[in-house]
Amino acid sequence: MGPQPRLRPIADDDILTVLDLNDRDVELLAPLDAGRLDQLRGWADRADVIDLGEQIAGFVVTFAAGTAYDSPNYRWFGERFGDDFAYLDRIVIGAEFRRRGLARFVYDTIEAEAAQVGRLALEVNVEPPNEVSLAFHRGRGYVDLDSRGEPGHVVTLMAKEL
Ligand SMILES: CC(C)(COP(=O)(O)OP(=O)(O)OC[C@H]1O[C@@H](n2cnc3c(N)ncnc32)[C@H](O)[C@@H]1OP(=O)(O)O)[C@@H](O)C(=O)NCCC(=O)NCCS
Repeated sequence: MGPQPRLRPIADDDILTVLDLNDRDVELLAPLDAGRLDQLRGWADRADVIDLGEQIAGFVVTFAAGTAYDSPNYRWFGERFGDDFAYLDRIVIGAEFRRRGLARFVYDTIEAEAAQVGRLALEVNVEPPNEVSLAFHRGRGYVDLDSRGEPGHVVTLMAKEL
């Protein structure tokens, strides 16, 4: 057993770590630089690191419904669900920390909060496929609602009723 994970807001000292975590998996995510991270933190409900005490294992960003966040996928959920969703924009667990239940811990926390609005929504790449993320989300009960994109870059829009 490693140290107990803790979610806490991204601090200025964490920014380089967060940008590096994003860069290492950027093809599965969206590009992120310091300016964009700052903008996301302004809109986000939660922009947290997964703090293991001595190490940062990953980060997660979520949005409540109804913010000015400029993502077309987020807007799609807003049109479909109004205020009745929370949105997980991005999660990364660093490669050396995977498969230890850290994402499970993060989702347990976030889903418990999202239950107040009925569902948690997010998207996952299906073209090219993010097989690990699809396995993780399908295993947790997320269902495909629709897909968006263009040839070569398609996402599935998923939600879990809570
Ligand atoms: C997807 C991701 C967040 C999962 O994080 P994680 O902390 O390794 O996941 P967990 O250890 O909590 O896994 C929980 C369950 O998900 C499933 N799962 C996780 N990784 C898996 C893998 N490589 N293959 C198959 N199933 C997997 C398993 O059911 C697992 O339970 P088990 O270990 O008891 O079998 C992580 O792989 C990651 O950050 N990937 C890169 C970035 C990314 O793809 N983010 C999501 C974008 S939508």
